[in-house]
Amino acid sequence: MDFTLIAHRGYSSRAPENTFFAFDLALEEGFDNFELDAQISKDGHLVVFHDDTIDRVTNGSGYVFDHTLKELQALDAAAKFKGDGDFSGAYIPTLHEFLGRYAGRAHPHLELKSREADLPAMVADALKTHGWLDVAETGTFDAPGLTVSSFWADQLYRSKVRLPNVRHGWLVNEVNEETVAAAQKLGFDAVYPRAGTARPETVSYALDRGLSVRGWGINDDDDMARIYKSGAMGTTVNWPGEAAAFLDSMT
Ligand code: G3P
Ligand code: CA
Repeated sequence: MDFTLIAHRGYSSRAPENTFFAFDLALEEGFDNFELDAQISKDGHLVVFHDDTIDRVTNGSGYVFDHTLKELQALDAAAKFKGDGDFSGAYIPTLHEFLGRYAGRAHPHLELKSREADLPAMVADALKTHGWLDVAETGTFDAPGLTVSSFWADQLYRSKVRLPNVRHGWLVNEVNEETVAAAQKLGFDAVYPRAGTARPETVSYALDRGLSVRGWGINDDDDMARIYKSGAMGTTVNWPGEAAAFLDSMT
């Protein structure tokens, strides 16, 4: 199947999101493309975490940027996980830990989550330190490999300027003439529509202009069918194994 399923925040339907339990499970189940979120702690460390606050996921409360790395890593990152399994010891990884652990054996889709202007430079330095730029190029989903993404065009631009050989994809609600033109102007390699908005005409419009396309925001099988039929090259999804079975059943 020429369509890549990217385990969203790791295999996050079966293990606590953005933890090594979720990323390891994705790899074990054969999904070497996985998505993660990066932001900055109070004391200037890169951490792998999605929300701007810690309340939904952990046993703590407040903003990520109001907590030091030590405070963040003392939290239980499985505290609110509703699925089955023993996730004792789950914690918020640093980006450095993540990049060291999966070097040479995965294709991370690294989302620049927060708006601090120094986040792209810090992430670029971390990628260099761990040798990820040696496996980066702008075209494929191969592992090892690397993609950087963001909803924030300014963050993505700062990163693309530093890492011209790395594929950069802009997360947008919808691919259309406007978002394609802006992506081209800013030198991005890809546009990533919310799956529920994807249509064959808009996806081919972007592809014809040299941008690659994959989806995000899969809530159900209808979203999965829609993004698959749109001609996009893949999507993030919280349940990649089940999604693979669903796509097999469709074809
Ligand atoms: O693939 C991008 C996707 O992760 C965007 O959604 O909410 O996880 O940042 P979110
Ligand atoms: Ca994300």
